[in-house]
Amino acid sequence: MSYEAHFKVWRGDADGGSLVDYTVTVNEGEVVLDIIHRLQATEAADLAVRWNCKAGKCGSCSAEINGRPRLMCMTRMSLLDPAEPVVVTPMRAFPVVRDLVTDVSFNYAKAREVPSFVPPAGVGPGEYRMQQEDVGRSQEFRKCIECFLCQDTCHVVRDHEENKPVFAGPRFLMRVAELDMHPLDGAAEAGIDRKRAAQEEHGLGYCNITKCCTEVCPEHIKITDNALIPLKERAVDRKYDPLVWLGSRIRRRA
Ligand code: SF4
Ligand code: SF4
Ligand code: FES
Repeated sequence: MSYEAHFKVWRGDADGGSLVDYTVTVNEGEVVLDIIHRLQATEAADLAVRWNCKAGKCGSCSAEINGRPRLMCMTRMSLLDPAEPVVVTPMRAFPVVRDLVTDVSFNYAKAREVPSFVPPAGVGPGEYRMQQEDVGRSQEFRKCIECFLCQDTCHVVRDHEENKPVFAGPRFLMRVAELDMHPLDGAAEAGIDRKRAAQEEHGLGYCNITKCCTEVCPEHIKITDNALIPLKERAVDRKYDPLVWLGSRIRRRA
């Protein structure tokens, strides 16, 4: 069954813009991205939108639908009230390029600040052995599709541009946590202190575990419970447990 929906889509660029009203046909089974494509095909050929897979896997079509960060390709029209306008706006935490397309390069810069996995000394590729429990733990984080909806929703940067230089955001604090939990990561031996960096370089202390990032993650990764809280616990243990502190000093000196 088809119906006519009222869409309000943000149109503009870095210099400013506004919501533009459209009346557009919706067919059974369609998602918000289908409607945006129909607008492009009918009444707004120059509407800018980023997308790729239309299957919730490339992480490109992130936007805000009725104020909530979501993937447009995974938001079914049947979830939305047909009597109410559907408001589609670009992600608020990032600068607008045009219409629904934002500049997400902040995230790539933050990704580069996290030192990658350090292969353990004396163990060759193919010789790595890990407990299944450890494999499972990091596999949850590896489901990330880099849609940056968690980054967009986190209040630390959403309305506070000034925090961006000192806060990596949930996606990249999760990356630090993943590496810090990795039983084969040789960062400490290579002089890289991931827990200290989490606190002092990536802004772990700004996170007050509100779980908003977890709520919007389309991969249902428990970012707060399984990455951020354990990372906070490990960083605090290191700082306040005298034995752990002494051990780290001795290791550093050695
Ligand atoms: S739990 Fe932390 S990282 Fe996640 S949204 Fe809240 S403050 Fe941001
Ligand atoms: S953790 Fe979830 S919300 Fe954040 S970038 Fe990855 S998939 Fe997107
Ligand atoms: S188009 Fe790939 S996640 Fe939506």
